[in-house]
Amino acid sequence: MAQQQAKILVTEPIPNNVLNFLQQHAQLYIGKKGEYQKESNLLAVIENYDALLCMLSTPVTKKVLEKGKNLKIVANFAVGYNNIDVETARSKNIKVANTPDVLTEACGDFAMGLLMAVTRQFNSAEKYLRDGKFTGWEPLGFLGMELRGKTLGIIGMGRIGQAFAQRARAFGMNITYFNRNRIPEFEEKALDANYVSSVRELASTSDVLSLNCPLTNDTYHLIDESIFEIMPPHSILINISRGPVVHEEALAKALHTSKIAGAGIDVFEEEPNVHPLLLTAPNCVLLPHIASATFETREAIGMLAAHAIVSVLEGKNDENIPNLI
Ligand code: GLV
Repeated sequence: MAQQQAKILVTEPIPNNVLNFLQQHAQLYIGKKGEYQKESNLLAVIENYDALLCMLSTPVTKKVLEKGKNLKIVANFAVGYNNIDVETARSKNIKVANTPDVLTEACGDFAMGLLMAVTRQFNSAEKYLRDGKFTGWEPLGFLGMELRGKTLGIIGMGRIGQAFAQRARAFGMNITYFNRNRIPEFEEKALDANYVSSVRELASTSDVLSLNCPLTNDTYHLIDESIFEIMPPHSILINISRGPVVHEEALAKALHTSKIAGAGIDVFEEEPNVHPLLLTAPNCVLLPHIASATFETREAIGMLAAHAIVSVLEGKNDENIPNLI
């Protein structure tokens, strides 16, 4: 009797090469944009599937995992996996995979670009031009903070934090960082990075404070009103990690009251919603969670997730699947 093909739910359309690869190994079902951001939609179908390739916006909760009686693996199309209840998955022997490394460079580039967009006011200057207000070169128009010699403070000196630091070094910035564990000396030396032992010290001494840590119980609302109180008034916050690391309303108020000078924000507390006060805040660049959005990287992310799924479905040993959590 022919063996039944495994079934994979891919929650949103992803690059075709990844879908073609998966199709060679299993029956694929592809959700519509946003369809499985709702837990109820996932609950309604999850028991039909052997594997789930999901987005960072897919709530892979205890309920979902308990309902997913046939699930063998959940592979996140992202490096961050705070949307997945990993503990429950483990207890049910469901493997979980993420996509480290492949998006590091895209995110490092993006953080640098976002910082430039904030300091040099790309968005408001472009709007000014499009609105027909550019009537001649202005010696005092759109002045911003120069990066050379300024201090970039990084919270979370993992792969992406280090990629940003490398780029910032090339712009002449000094690097300080806070991390759960101090990074090895040779890595500090390569980046000329100074370790500080508290978030408060980093926040009060940085010209630019960048969040590159995962969202965990320890980092939830790590940046709140008390931190905005001690950040220098000329300083800038960059967040490409996860929205809830920042108390979004406190950030909006800090911008409205000039407690800090600007912000570059790619992630939000309740995506896709953005706090209304933040939408009207001055000097901030707000983007729809696109740090890893290059053709190359999104395909690499998909392939890494897909390979983990196929390996698990084929019964490979965990040691041969490098991106299992
Ligand atoms: C994007 O935010 C990711 O975690 O990959």
